[in-house]
Amino acid sequence: MESKQLINEAKKIREKAYVPYSKFPVGAALVTEDGTLYTGCNIENAAYPVTCCAERVAIFKAVSDGHDHFKELAVVADTKRPVPPCGSCRQVMSEFFQSDVKIHTTNLHGDTKTFTMEEILPFSFSSADLSEEEA
Ligand code: THU
Repeated sequence: MESKQLINEAKKIREKAYVPYSKFPVGAALVTEDGTLYTGCNIENAAYPVTCCAERVAIFKAVSDGHDHFKELAVVADTKRPVPPCGSCRQVMSEFFQSDVKIHTTNLHGDTKTFTMEEILPFSFSSADLSEEEA
């Protein structure tokens, strides 16, 4: 899928965001290795920390359907610069994305910055660190 198309899917799902508290809708679109598309929007809660970001909703939907190999993800919000994914989302991405998976960050003005997983979260904590053996 073209990154433009993926960004468009992220924009579409952004309209479904449940954001009564922040009024800051975010959309994310994810393509699996086999070409399946998953989308997600942020879903907030009156107990604020329970909120789930758009990126994690998309990733969790895909993982819950059995996917564990991904190609690329796009995220969009109405920000001045391309919206930077939060730290928690980067950590979740690093759990499931290989280091070369592309992350397209963008905004409604069409500014886009693309990172690899390795670039967006270098030196990340991973399952290898849980083992006593050297990673
Ligand atoms: N948010 C996301 O959905 N993704 C991000 O990467 C940044 C933040 C959401 C969480 C909350 O609903 C709103 O944006 C404001 O923080």
